[in-house]
Amino acid sequence: MTNKNKTVWSGRFKNSVSKSFQRIGASINVDKRLYEQDIFASKVHTQMLIKKKIIPAKEGKKILEGLNKIKEQIRKGKFVFKEKFEDIHLNIEKKLFEIIGESAGYMHTARSRNDQVVTDFKLWVKDSSQILIKELSSLMKNIVIKAEKNVSTVMPGFTHLKNAQPISFAHYLLAYYEMFKRDKKRFQNNLELIDESPLGVAALSGTSYNIDRNFTSKKLGFKKPTNNSIDTVSDRDFAIDFLYACAVSAMHLSRLAEDFIILNSDAYQLIKFNDKMLTGSSIMPQKKNPDPAELIRGRTGINYGKLNSILTIMKGLPISYFKDLQDDKGLVFDGFDTLKDTLIMSNELIKNIIPNKTRMLDMAQTGYTTATDFADYLVKDKNLSFREAFKVSSKIVNYAEKNKKNLDDLSLSEIKKFHKNVNNNVLKIFNVKNSMNSKNSHGGTSERNIKKMIKKYKKEL
Ligand code: ARG
Repeated sequence: MTNKNKTVWSGRFKNSVSKSFQRIGASINVDKRLYEQDIFASKVHTQMLIKKKIIPAKEGKKILEGLNKIKEQIRKGKFVFKEKFEDIHLNIEKKLFEIIGESAGYMHTARSRNDQVVTDFKLWVKDSSQILIKELSSLMKNIVIKAEKNVSTVMPGFTHLKNAQPISFAHYLLAYYEMFKRDKKRFQNNLELIDESPLGVAALSGTSYNIDRNFTSKKLGFKKPTNNSIDTVSDRDFAIDFLYACAVSAMHLSRLAEDFIILNSDAYQLIKFNDKMLTGSSIMPQKKNPDPAELIRGRTGINYGKLNSILTIMKGLPISYFKDLQDDKGLVFDGFDTLKDTLIMSNELIKNIIPNKTRMLDMAQTGYTTATDFADYLVKDKNLSFREAFKVSSKIVNYAEKNKKNLDDLSLSEIKKFHKNVNNNVLKIFNVKNSMNSKNSHGGTSERNIKKMIKKYKKEL
């Protein structure tokens, strides 16, 4: 076998690895996504080796130039990734030998693939978290825009999918703003824990070379170097944190999608989608189906699956590095791609929903949604205890139901049958808009409250 085709460790091996394992064990098709991070980290490592006079500056310079050339080749799609060189790290090292010859042999001084891979991976997760944070921000912005147009749109609020109390459509939408704000924070919080540089812990025990880990840590954009070499090569908490944050966010997106599917259903007809968010049927000419919302809901399964997989891979894995860890990257990449796409789709979905305001108001008025307001009125104006007032209000609901009337259809004399001492003012209590606007406690659905919140959200965005 020519040197060019040999693996870096071939010296001690009589046979090369089996063809089937070469294919199955290679991660290059997955981890080639780390090429920029790998080259960046290799350059920083080389700069440190030069600075600390661990390798001759002349050789170091060749390495840096060679790495730049490799980056260009990959960018231009001219780099041929080879399975026989297993992963991105060895593919790049092999190419470096091809370009600069034996000088390439100086690059891997005082490091191992074990610290190399976790350095690249952390850098990638940091960058990708920022991308998701941006997508979440844009989703939050679109929610605020939609909410602002619907502060006074009254809809039924549901519990148990039964009409509960009148709420503002804006208030409903802004509930999701809060969820996505927490999702964003979860990714941001992760950035704090991930902020330790693994580079320089080598295989598992550190190194006897006089390296400068503070230098590489700073150049790579980490806050400080990690403290324990063994933990460093076997820690994948940051990948789990990332996939957990993805899974929670996907869960929120799924709930939003499910809400929209229900509100858009022919049974509810509370919202419509622009045709851009709908697909037709191959057999039923009348159909307009909300496929994007359904995909958002469904793909949450992928995000949960990736989290579950990585937790299972890590469970019971002895310290420190094992090949099991190689599959962490595919999971994280898939988790990222899936969430990013669902965020993009959700952004479009929010922009393309049209509330059916007449139907919303209509439905808000059905199902005796102001029965609680009447009870509250009796407590506040007539000094009844809440439990007493609840009974009176239940009786009114029974009466209205029996007579097939909404609460706001009742006349003063009908109401008086249940509580003598009321005047015309009581009629306002059954108005759904009044009900909505009476919920003025902090976090409640009154227009005043919502306007205040929108102002605050705009500031924080
Ligand atoms: N491709 C490997 C991975 O992703 C790189 C680390 C290899 N280290 C080793 N000791 N075989 O985990």
